[in-house]
Amino acid sequence: MAEVVCVTGANGFIGSWLTRTLLEDSRYTSIHASIFPGSDPSHLFTLHPDAQTRIKVFEVDILDAASVSRAIDGCTGVFHVASPCTLEDPQDPQKELVLPAVQGTLNVLEASKRFNVKRVVVTSSISALVPNPNWPPNKPFDESSWTDLEFCKSREKWYPVSKTLAEKAAWEFAEKNGLDVVSIHPATCLGPLLQAQLNASCAVLQKLLQGSPDTQEHYWLGAVHVKDAAKAQVLIFETPKASGRYLCTNGIYQFSDFAKRVSRLYPDFPVHSFPTVTQPGLMACENAAKRLIDLGFVFTPIEDAVREAAESLMAKGFLKKP
Ligand SMILES: NC(=O)c1ccc[n+]([C@@H]2O[C@H](COP(=O)([O-])OP(=O)(O)OC[C@H]3O[C@@H](n4cnc5c(N)ncnc54)[C@H](OP(=O)(O)O)[C@@H]3O)[C@@H](O)[C@H]2O)c1
Repeated sequence: MAEVVCVTGANGFIGSWLTRTLLEDSRYTSIHASIFPGSDPSHLFTLHPDAQTRIKVFEVDILDAASVSRAIDGCTGVFHVASPCTLEDPQDPQKELVLPAVQGTLNVLEASKRFNVKRVVVTSSISALVPNPNWPPNKPFDESSWTDLEFCKSREKWYPVSKTLAEKAAWEFAEKNGLDVVSIHPATCLGPLLQAQLNASCAVLQKLLQGSPDTQEHYWLGAVHVKDAAKAQVLIFETPKASGRYLCTNGIYQFSDFAKRVSRLYPDFPVHSFPTVTQPGLMACENAAKRLIDLGFVFTPIEDAVREAAESLMAKGFLKKP
């Protein structure tokens, strides 16, 4: 059956991979690519031979309900990806992070309800699951965990606050209005950058390869290839029985373990040597994304994601060989 779908934040890192994944399936006859007004969508048209005819660009500030509505009109499915994604400290957390995340989500859901969209896939994050200091020790994190808002606010970790409040608002809206919503919770996404700008998760790898001692203490569970994050979103859109939250990570492990694996792949780079425990209490788990695995999902090895991201960072001039 032909599908017309909307992708918000279509020209960002994950949005571009999602758009590419949808283009590779001819059932998605038209993709409404919602992009921030004035931002550049040109790379989307290089992703597939049919991109010119199947992508329709809509300039949408996610806070402007009327423009959100125009992008979603006529769609059978919506992938709500757009949300400020930065781990830098904001000057005005409410205005820069929380409002666009929460009100943006509500605007997307309101329009989806109005146009009878059959399912909305919300791109949440592991940052709506962790940090959660009250999680039982010795138990690997799963989809039943929620980020502790007071813990984050007291430490001024505003990105997890924005993602958690946005997702809570989404579930409340879905319940009240009978809208079919599913959420995906990617860990740190890595892979080739299709877009021109450096995004926050690839910057984590860039900084690690440049010698940064940042442990990502509150922002880390594991990593996933960005193409898997895109494919998993399409899978949960297409699977009728899919419901609720889907953790999307190729394993849970310490950031120090990740750094070791990166250092093995790139021994010439000055990767910092971390203490063994960078995420106190984090229980390692290989098949942590059990709900996706149970749907038949197979993850790409993380070494591939690291290699492809690092090569892309170098090719685009974001990382220099030592
Ligand atoms: N990358 C990861 O590791 C990761 C992991 C888990 C979850 N996520 C989630 O995945 C989503 C995409 O992240 P990403 O990594 O692809 O980051 P990204 O490249 O920065 O993409 C974010 C997108 O949202 C758009 N956006 C932000 N504010 C907007 C607004 N007010 N109106 C319209 N568009 C707006 C951005 O547009 P402009 O750039 O043009 O402003 C951009 O296209 C976010 O919801 C993020 O929380 C990412």
